[in-house]
Amino acid sequence: MMDRIRIVGGRPLKGTIPISGAKNATLPLMIASLLSEETLTLDNVPRLADVSLLQRILGNHGVDVTVSGKRAGETADHGQTLRLSAERIVDTTAPYELVSKMRASFWVIAPLIARMGEARVSMPGGCAIGTRPVDLLIMAVERLGARIEIDGGYVVAKAPKGLRGAEIVFPKVTVGGTHTAMMAASLANGTTVIENAAREPEIVDVAECLNKMGARISGAGTQQIVIEGVARLGGARHAVLPDRIETGTYAMAVAMAGGEIFLQNGRPHLLQAALDVLNQTGVTVSPTKEGIRVARNGAELAPVEVTTAPFPAFPTDLQAQLMALMTRARGTSRIVETVFENRFMHVQELVRLGARIHLEGERATIEGVERLKGAQVMATDLRASVSLVIAALAAEGETIVNRVYHLDRGFERVEDKLARCGAAIERLPG
Ligand code: EPZ
Repeated sequence: MMDRIRIVGGRPLKGTIPISGAKNATLPLMIASLLSEETLTLDNVPRLADVSLLQRILGNHGVDVTVSGKRAGETADHGQTLRLSAERIVDTTAPYELVSKMRASFWVIAPLIARMGEARVSMPGGCAIGTRPVDLLIMAVERLGARIEIDGGYVVAKAPKGLRGAEIVFPKVTVGGTHTAMMAASLANGTTVIENAAREPEIVDVAECLNKMGARISGAGTQQIVIEGVARLGGARHAVLPDRIETGTYAMAVAMAGGEIFLQNGRPHLLQAALDVLNQTGVTVSPTKEGIRVARNGAELAPVEVTTAPFPAFPTDLQAQLMALMTRARGTSRIVETVFENRFMHVQELVRLGARIHLEGERATIEGVERLKGAQVMATDLRASVSLVIAALAAEGETIVNRVYHLDRGFERVEDKLARCGAAIERLPG
């Protein structure tokens, strides 16, 4: 729990980094297993603390989860295969102790209410990246006919006669709201239309998996998703799509450290906005069939102006990493964070490394500096933590990143992947 990561900056990166399956697709896919009595098999699942925690949470509801070991010829670069069997749901309550550890576990409300006609799920509470309400998720299940009560910090949803299709109009784009509406509507009676749906690639991945299970979903990836409810869903086998945020993170790492990296399995169309920004900074990005090649050889970084917004715009989950990179640009960059309020926990830590950043509400102004210097730092969410790793790759001397626990939630073997490309990085067990 108390591991730290030690980095000595100044080494260019060279080699290949295999991109893992996407965390933010894996979590809703695992939750979707609750919708069926039959087995859902997921391939290319990343080895992450959040995945293990969700296994425990689903186990509590009665899901049997088996993880297959490595087969001959496979290395840790291959994702794991998970088999999830929710033959019998033994508990429709998701307790505070578990939901407060991982917000996405609130999403179990959708399959539980759809299949069992009841769900009792703890409200998640605050988190490190600001206020994150669940009002729109509740609105979605309510529109589908569930009766909702808030009792002792829990959302209690009841639909004894099942859910019925409805029109759900989201006033704001929400990834979790769209996942929830899609899952619940799959087992509702009649047709549901989701307006202003999130278009993130992870939504498309989940819709594809649900369709393999027998759902009738069309339009995923656009603003309007139409779901014709079915009476039951069956088993399926699905491979998780590659992680676009991990891909963008390592692209920024090589942009920071210099050198040349091949991001194996990275898919350019999943992060075009971020790759365009990297091009503007002067980094060379070359998409190939098997992945993405990213190189910076000696050239200075040009400053950029970027606003985060829902897909296909620049993702909030790469905002901290881009900010780390821009601390070393030649000139002044501006980053506006429009998705989450207060997702700037990394700023004060980057400043500890010598960055010059000015914050005003949702706007950050970053004045590039000639050099960063290593220090002790820590962060309270995973993207902020990895931004400190990126900064450390270009900082003089030693940086210790504390609270590595946050990194392990969302990045598979980060120190291994970077060390194999020549970075001076190691884990110090706590
Ligand atoms: C998902 O969170 C991701 N999590 C986040 O990744 C990501 O940052 C976020 O989408 C935006 O892309 C997973 O997929 C597990 P939202 P989610 O609902 O679904 C507001 C990471 O680092 N809102 O799209 O919780 C909300 O406050 C994580 O991997 C409401 O107002 O995000 C925010 O301002 C962090 N009411 C905006 O909508 C609601 O009921 C978008 O949030 C729900 C959301």
